[in-house]
Amino acid sequence: MSKDKVDIFDTTLRDGEQVPGCKLDTEQKLIIAERLDYLGVDIIEAGFPISSPGDFKSVDQISRLIKNATVCGLTRAVKKDIEVAAEALKHAKRPRIHTGIGTSDSHIKYKFNSNKETIIERAVAAVAYAKTFVEDVEFYAEDAGRTENDFLARVCEAVIRAGATVLNIPDTTGYCLPDEYGAKMKYLKENVKGIDKAKLSCHCHNDLGLATANSIAGVINGARQIECTINGIGERAGNTALEEVVMILRQHPYLGLDTNINSKLLFDTSQMVSQNMGMMVQPNKAIVGANAFAHSSGIHQDGVIKNRETYEIIDPADVGVNESSIVLTARSGRAALAYRAKLVGYELTKLQLDEVYQEFLKFADRKKEVLDDDIHFIIEATGLNIESVS
Ligand code: KIV
Ligand code: ZN
Repeated sequence: MSKDKVDIFDTTLRDGEQVPGCKLDTEQKLIIAERLDYLGVDIIEAGFPISSPGDFKSVDQISRLIKNATVCGLTRAVKKDIEVAAEALKHAKRPRIHTGIGTSDSHIKYKFNSNKETIIERAVAAVAYAKTFVEDVEFYAEDAGRTENDFLARVCEAVIRAGATVLNIPDTTGYCLPDEYGAKMKYLKENVKGIDKAKLSCHCHNDLGLATANSIAGVINGARQIECTINGIGERAGNTALEEVVMILRQHPYLGLDTNINSKLLFDTSQMVSQNMGMMVQPNKAIVGANAFAHSSGIHQDGVIKNRETYEIIDPADVGVNESSIVLTARSGRAALAYRAKLVGYELTKLQLDEVYQEFLKFADRKKEVLDDDIHFIIEATGLNIESVS
């Protein structure tokens, strides 16, 4: 079955960098941008050029460096922002301006002290102005997650007429449920005149832990771009995690959707971003966490040793992890102990294994995790004369 392509719009360097205390310098941003290009992302959101001279410099230098991906700069619906972004992007092979404005009642009333008609006018003016600098203009309707669908459709229709090539529908506060976010995309697909001229994009925040689920609901309902970050980093509880959406689409081929990402680079990219940002990846993080392919309970270990697929839906090699790990703890069984003992050079007979296992249990009760060196000690402690062949 031929698959529909979902564009991956990486915003690690913009929304991702809005994590408190995780500022990157230009050098680090260049290294990460190059890595994202190599990973296969379609669009790199390099920064918010008007926000600081440092951000301008980073967007300018990333624009000069990147060979394949589109390079994008964020703006508000403000002329000066758009001019500065256009200047920062002028050396990009494929430049994109990402402009927009809040569309929910709360943004219109409290942020802008404005009204719906004026918001549409400002949105249209921003897109039309951005179009005078670049062909590729993405419009974001900030807080679209809490914007009524009929007004959102009116805004989308107006900005498509002004030339928007991509319509970003952000769930800025991470409020939506997957059904609701999916239904929003479906509504826009079915009710916005001219929708075929633009691509719908998902931009979801993780305040309720639903960013990935919402993005997947979005693409199932017609969106063809996902905005995400490596390790799901970002403002507050973060953004949709790139590695998660990529692997969900790959593990569910019947959805008929795929990306250009080289998944074998996911683990290394995750580590690289984590180190540069000084932000550790939680061990139980899906796809790239240290425990994502580690098995510690006896029943699971026995299954995985017999056949990896009993307890793993992803081949670790597909995301660049060498192999599944069998972690020895007090909950491990004989199969796991025999497996790990063999890796350090001991072929145990059934009788030997029974004795070593009793010694192992006493040891494991005192220690959280039994390591390779401990296995030698445990075997010695049994008094059995078993030689290691390694
Ligand atoms: O979450 C959001 O609404 C954003 C926009 C600025 C695109 O990050
Ligand atoms: Zn955001």
